[in-house]
Amino acid sequence: MAFERILLRNVGRPNSEKIDTYLEHGGYQALRKTLHEYTSEDLIEMLKKSGLRGRGGAGFPAGLKWSFMPKDSDVTKYVCVNTDEGEPGTFKDRLLVERDPHSVIEGAIIASYAVGAHRAFVYIRGEFFLGVKRWMKAIDDAYARGFLGKDILGSGFDLDLSVHRGAGAYICGEETAMLESLEGKRGEPRLKPPYPAQVGLWGQPTLVHNVETLACVPHIVLRGPEWFASIGTEESKGPKIFCVSGDVQRPGNYELPLGTTLREIIYEHAGGIKGGRKLKAIVPGGASTPMLTSEHLDVPMAFETLSKAGSMLGTGGITTMDEDACIVDAALRLTRFFAHESCGKCTPCRVGTQRLMGILQRIEDGHGREGDINRLLGLCHGIMGHTFCPMGDAAVNPTLSSIKHFREEYEYHIEHHRCLAPLQ
Ligand SMILES: Cc1cc2nc3c(=O)[nH]c(=O)nc-3n(C[C@H](O)[C@H](O)[C@H](O)COP(=O)(O)O)c2cc1C
Ligand code: SF4
Repeated sequence: MAFERILLRNVGRPNSEKIDTYLEHGGYQALRKTLHEYTSEDLIEMLKKSGLRGRGGAGFPAGLKWSFMPKDSDVTKYVCVNTDEGEPGTFKDRLLVERDPHSVIEGAIIASYAVGAHRAFVYIRGEFFLGVKRWMKAIDDAYARGFLGKDILGSGFDLDLSVHRGAGAYICGEETAMLESLEGKRGEPRLKPPYPAQVGLWGQPTLVHNVETLACVPHIVLRGPEWFASIGTEESKGPKIFCVSGDVQRPGNYELPLGTTLREIIYEHAGGIKGGRKLKAIVPGGASTPMLTSEHLDVPMAFETLSKAGSMLGTGGITTMDEDACIVDAALRLTRFFAHESCGKCTPCRVGTQRLMGILQRIEDGHGREGDINRLLGLCHGIMGHTFCPMGDAAVNPTLSSIKHFREEYEYHIEHHRCLAPLQ
């Protein structure tokens, strides 16, 4: 089904990253409208009405988060744009930043005005070389045209925005670890509560948002919250960029309404599975989210429906595996990622992920022992809910969900010392 491109409307135009291209296609009109027509309260109400939920993984209602920021004008407040995007299978924020950075800058300025912040930071993954370049150039151009700096568009509102490069640690995408890293410390999560909207960067109230979330904001201001809320499902509003990868014919980013089924995304937009093979497994929302199977193809990609199906919308990064994939190998690779990225602050995650990896590796190598499946499950339950930050729960999802849906593959590996899937 064709759907109007909203967030990706400029991607694909020549020189889409340039400020002139952005201005030619209606760019910065939402900011102009915001600064001259709306108060902070208007904007918070507008965001609440729109139903926009965070696109960074947790899906927290954006308007509610804005309303948690203290109203006092003499309190120093910050806004942070989370451009870390380290979740395997997720590559939408990078696209927005490389191809349409001004849409994110415009969203960040509107958000800063709404919460009364005069200083904002972009935290970007160090490996995003082009993204860093595009961010810096876009910010310079926005200053030169009066969209950043002092007295923006004659409104009396001031905002400075600058870029901070991370060093490529997955945990620095977690908002409190990101704040630690921004402060120049080792990137480890902080205990929550207090949440960043209360105690954030250098102890001050801080609004942290994902790139895609901020890119939605100018459209809500220009076209109205009712329009935004008319797209999607009951609890999941607006457009969403789904990143499709793995064994599909046409991997890539597809912008569609929240609530589009996995079947439509995989078979209509991404062209189905390569070579006409059968689909075996789907990781629907980035590596942290539990695997599903081909039986879940009719599940709509929305917060509430994925949770009912036993998984999560996460980042909307859909990874597909065909009938030839080895599920134990897939669980091992994903677990290896989490074990490598564990920040080491708490023992269940630091040691537990290494132990998980060890058992998965020996099963994959054909040396699995009787009782290994129960050992894996025991370890997962020992980690889940017992870690300092949500990464512990994320790290067990590949193992738990793959045993739930594909237990017979584990049993076959252990009993026959080899893989059930062909070509392994
Ligand atoms: C381990 C971990 C990694 C995360 N990585 C990212 C990330 O790369 N980008 C992102 O926007 N949010 C990431 N998040 C979610 C952030 O903590 C936070 O919820 C988000 O930036 C808030 O923005 P949103 O409300 O616009 O989604 C991560 C969370 C966890 C637990
Ligand atoms: S769960 Fe893992 S990533 Fe999170 S604080 Fe503990 S060790 Fe660090």
